[in-house]
Order: sequence, then structure tokens, then C-alpha cells
Amino acid sequence: MQFSRLGQKLSGNAGIVTLMDDLGDALRTNPDMIFMGGGNPARIPEMEAAFAEALEQTLSDPQQAHQLLGVYQPPQGDADVLDAFASMLSKEYNWPLTRDNIALANGSQSAFFILFNMFAGEFENGIKKQIQFPLAPEYLGYSDLGISDDFFTATRPTIEILGDGFFKYHVDFSQLKITERTGAVCVSRPTNPTGNVISDEELQHLDTLALENGVPLIVDGAYGTPFPNILFADIKPHWNSNTILVLSLSKLGLPGARTGIVIANPQVINAFAKANTILNLACGNFGPALAHNLLQDGKILALSREIVAPFYRDRMEKAVAIFKHHLGDLPYYIHKPEGAIFLWLWFKDLPISSEELYQCLKARGVLVISGHHFFPGLADNWQHSRECIRVTYCQDVEIVEKGAVIIAEEVRRVFGKI
Ligand SMILES: Cc1ncc(COP(=O)(O)O)c(C=O)c1O
Repeated sequence: MQFSRLGQKLSGNAGIVTLMDDLGDALRTNPDMIFMGGGNPARIPEMEAAFAEALEQTLSDPQQAHQLLGVYQPPQGDADVLDAFASMLSKEYNWPLTRDNIALANGSQSAFFILFNMFAGEFENGIKKQIQFPLAPEYLGYSDLGISDDFFTATRPTIEILGDGFFKYHVDFSQLKITERTGAVCVSRPTNPTGNVISDEELQHLDTLALENGVPLIVDGAYGTPFPNILFADIKPHWNSNTILVLSLSKLGLPGARTGIVIANPQVINAFAKANTILNLACGNFGPALAHNLLQDGKILALSREIVAPFYRDRMEKAVAIFKHHLGDLPYYIHKPEGAIFLWLWFKDLPISSEELYQCLKARGVLVISGHHFFPGLADNWQHSRECIRVTYCQDVEIVEKGAVIIAEEVRRVFGKI
């Protein structure tokens, strides 16, 4: 049997596929593995109770239950749910939104597939456009979303050493060039894997550059405002008609609901909904039904602000203290954790590659993710990209501590400090 070029690309050994296979195999062979690798959100009892209540209420009303189980909703999403999102976002942020500005997707990952391929790839004038990341490290799930080759480009950030063991990436505007090959600019805010949150000024600058060059600015708010609000930096939410903001229910605690929300101008939403019809016919109803219930009386905002954000802030602060304690005098930096659910550890001048460190850690029963996966579109050979690892702090504190002890031992060993 032979596959087409696209078939080969999709069924080949894409980085994300190999990585997920490797993580899955490791867990199968050692169920006691300390899992600091994946992107699952933490289990938060208050959130689980809120989801259960929303589901019960939906199922107890025959009309709502039918809408949940028995109908295809329109490909843009159920109009009532679109209205509820538009009204909440307009009220919260004064953005001029109606249902024409919102589309639902089966997870934000699938929304990125459609959006990226709408704005990059081959154009009628023969130009091959790219999705441009103003800063890498960026989300590794973007890496294989382009259906053509040479699909991404990224700029190295500047590194600011902050003291007290922290550092922070900034967009290097002296190197960032938007060209005729730029199809769209995209940034996750907060960023997976680093926990970086690009500043209001940086975002404003990107917005201006995108507008001036007639390309959209895509902002991935999977961890951002207004929900799930896993954000520890004081920043302004941003949207205008040249911005495509993509939100998700996943990190609120609903990755199984597979629900993404796209907020953009009506032209983009219209095109997106048509593409979504071709790919999915309609979105699943489970996530939108829960969201509809949680949007009433601002429940989703209250839960994000009062439960989710403090929960992760506490986990983050404990994880930072644990890693600082165990890494001690080793040459490490932690990216300033401004949001998301990870710590990004940089071991400057690491004598082995981060991939080799990942393998050593896996053999010791700790799964992390090697940092080199998180530089989609960065063409240059940058030593720094092989000196970092990503760890999640979603697990219980005792598990994070067990993992940190082993990570510190291995890093001490490779630096010859034992
Ligand atoms: C930055 C970022 N964007 C998008 C996604 C995709 O999320 P989902 O498809 O569950 O909405 C993830 C998942 O981990 C992520 O970390």
C-alpha cells in the first residue's frame, strides 16, 4: 500500500508522534514512573465538582440533553453558546464581539491546523508563506501542523538574567523581520513550555508590525485570560480585528472535552467554519454544553480566578522552592514562571545534550521533556536549545520533590560534581 505525500507526512515519524510514543512506552514499561512530562492539567476537586454539576443540570433537562446528544450543531458552533462567549468577552474586556466573531473547534490543536494552513503554504502568486514565531521556545504541538514543508520560521529571543536563579526570554525585535513570506505571526501567551508571558509592550509591538504588514496576529491563550487564567503576571488581554485569539477548555480541567474557541473578525470566522465543516462536519457538543452552563452568572470566570489560578500559583511556588533547594550550587536557571503549568530549567553549558539527559532521567524513572523539541522554525544551531528541559508541576508536591531529587542527582553527575 502506498501513501500520498500528505499521507506520508501525517503517518511519518513527526517529532510529536515519536515523543508521545516514547512517553507512552516508558509509562507502560514502568508504571511507577514519575511523570513530569505531559501536558495534562492537574485534578482540582472544586473544578471536577463544578463540571459534574454542569453535566447533571444539562442532562436533567430533556431539551438540553437532546441538544447535547442528539443533534449536529452548526459547524461554527451552537448559536446560543457563541452568543454566551461573545457577551462574556464583550462585558469583561469591552471587545466589540458578536456571535459572528466566534467559532468553536474540536480542541484548539485542530483550530491551529486549520488556521495555520489557511494563512501559510502556497499562495496564488507562487509565494510560499510561513507561520512566524516571534520567539522560540514555542509549543511543540505546532511543529508538524503544516501540510507543506518549510512551514515555520522563528526568531531567537534575547535572554535576560534576572538574579536569584531566574532568567527571562524577550522578543528580539532587532532580529525579527516580517517579510512577504510571513503568512501570520503566532505566539502562545502564556507560553508552553517556558511559562513566559510576553509583555503588553511586546504584544503591542507585534500587533503593530502585523497590522502594518497586513498579516494576522494569532495569540494562543490556552493558559491565558479570561479562562483558565493560569497567569501569574499582571498583563492586559488583547484582541482587535487583526488578532485571532484562540482559547481552550482543556487547561481548565477539560482536555477530554476537546473544545477550542476561536475569536476573530467575521471573514476569518466564516472561512474557519467552512473548513471545519469539511474536516469535522460539526464540533462535539459536550464541551460547548458544559461551557454554556459555566458561562451563566460568570461561573467560569469566578472558578478561573478563585480556584484555578491560586491552585497553580501555589503548585508553582512550591515547585520553584523544591527545585532551588535540590539544584543548590549547580549551574541552573529557571525561566521566570509567569503562567502555564511548567518549569523550564536551563543548565548552562550542560556537558551532554538535553535529549541525553532525558534518556538518563527516563532510565532513573523520571519523565521530563527535552527542551530541543520546543524550537519549531528556528533554523540556526543554537547550543541553548540543547541545554533545557521542561517539567510539569501538576502532580502532588511529594511527587515533584521525588522527581527533583533525581533530576538534581543526574545533573550533578553529568557536571562531574559528585
Ligand atoms: C500552548 C498550547 N496550545 C494549544 C494546545 C492544544 O490544546 P487543546 O487542543 O487541548 O485545546 C496546548 C496543549 O497542551 C498548548 O499547550
